[in-house]
Amino acid sequence: MIHVTFIAPDGQQTTIEAEEDSTLMQAAVAHDVDGIVGECGGAMMCATCHCHVDAAWQDRTGGPSPDEVEMLEGAAAEVDDRSRLSCQIRLTPALDGLVVHLPEEQM
Ligand code: FES
Repeated sequence: MIHVTFIAPDGQQTTIEAEEDSTLMQAAVAHDVDGIVGECGGAMMCATCHCHVDAAWQDRTGGPSPDEVEMLEGAAAEVDDRSRLSCQIRLTPALDGLVVHLPEEQM
């Protein structure tokens, strides 16, 4: 299992245990994490799975692909250099302990 902590805009933290090899979006939706919608089911067509990877984890998650950057332009909340689509982050053992911040809004 991969542990992931989500930090809401108000500072509230939620830690879940996710299945290895699932995406971050799938794990968040499966655990009813408020703030990740995943409307398109991971087809990279909605940007409602936007999150900000904690700076300490950016090296391990890597950055967004060019297609992901393009889709993030449609995100509802402010996009910054930590922004990723959570459906494009696959949870490997190297990401055990991952911390991500949830945006103010998704739609
Ligand atoms: S779930 Fe739609 S872009 Fe990630």
